[in-house]
Amino acid sequence: MRRDATPRRYLMCPPAHFKVTYSINPWMDPTKPVDLPLALAQWEDLRDRYRALGHTVETLVPDPALPDMVFAANGALVVDGRVLGARFAHRERAAEAAIHLAWFRERGYREVLEPSHVNEAEGDFAVTASYLLAGRGFRSSPLSHAEAQEFFGRPVIGLDLVDPRYYHLDTALSVLDGDEVMYYPDAFSPGSRAVLRRLFPDALIADGQDAAALGLNAVSDGRHVLLPQAATGLLAPLRDRGFEPVPMDLGELLKGGGSVKCCTQELRP
Ligand code: ARG
Repeated sequence: MRRDATPRRYLMCPPAHFKVTYSINPWMDPTKPVDLPLALAQWEDLRDRYRALGHTVETLVPDPALPDMVFAANGALVVDGRVLGARFAHRERAAEAAIHLAWFRERGYREVLEPSHVNEAEGDFAVTASYLLAGRGFRSSPLSHAEAQEFFGRPVIGLDLVDPRYYHLDTALSVLDGDEVMYYPDAFSPGSRAVLRRLFPDALIADGQDAAALGLNAVSDGRHVLLPQAATGLLAPLRDRGFEPVPMDLGELLKGGGSVKCCTQELRP
C-alpha cells in the first residue's frame, strides 16, 4: 500500500527547564539525574526532523516553574481549528493550561473553550477519521469526554486505562492514518479492548516490550512514523503496512514519562 504524508503543523516547547523534581507517573524518579543539555539536543533533533519532513513547528516559550511543559501534547486539543483547553489533574502542571490558551488567543483562534472538567488534551484524546478516542482512569475525567463531544461535534469513544505505566491514552495507542491505529491491549480494560477490536479490527497490535519502550507514543504524518528508538518490534510491522518508521532517541525525556507524541501537539486546521 502506498502511503502519502500530509504536511502538518505542530506546537512544541523546548525542555529548557526540564527536570524531574516530583513524581506523578511511575516513570518519574526524582532521584535519577537528568542530563539537561542532552534532553535539549534530543528535543531539537525531533523538531528538526519534523521540519526536514516538511512540517511546520511552532514553539512555546518554556516557563522555569513548569518542568513538564516540554510535554506540549497535554496543553490543548485542536481539531477543525477549534481549541479545547486543558485542565490538569495535578497541581504541579495546572499553570500550563493558561499559557496554552493565551498562545491560541494571541494567534487569533476564535473558538477556544476553557474546559470545566479535567482533561489532559492530546495525552488522552486521539483523533481518527471517524472518532475522538478518549482515555480515562488516571488523568482525564469521563466528564471531559462529553464536553469534548459537544464542543467538536465528533463521536467520542471512552476507553478505560488500567495500567499506571500507561496513564495517558497516548502512551498506549497511536493513530497511524485515518482510522488506522496501533495499540497495546493490556493497557485497557477488557471491555475497552473489545471496543477497540470492534472499531479497529485491522489495528497493529503492540507487545509488552514495545509498549514498555513507550513505542506507542508515536507521531505519524500518514507515511513517516516517528517513534522511540527502543521500540524495535514495531519497525517491521509498520514497514509491512507501507509506513516509514523514523526511530528517535528521547531517552532523557522518558525520565519524565513521555516521548515523541507527548512533546508534540498537532494543530489541526
Ligand atoms: N510528566 C508528565 C506527566 O506525568 C508527562 C506527560 C507525558 N505526556 C503525554 N502526552 N503522555 O504529566
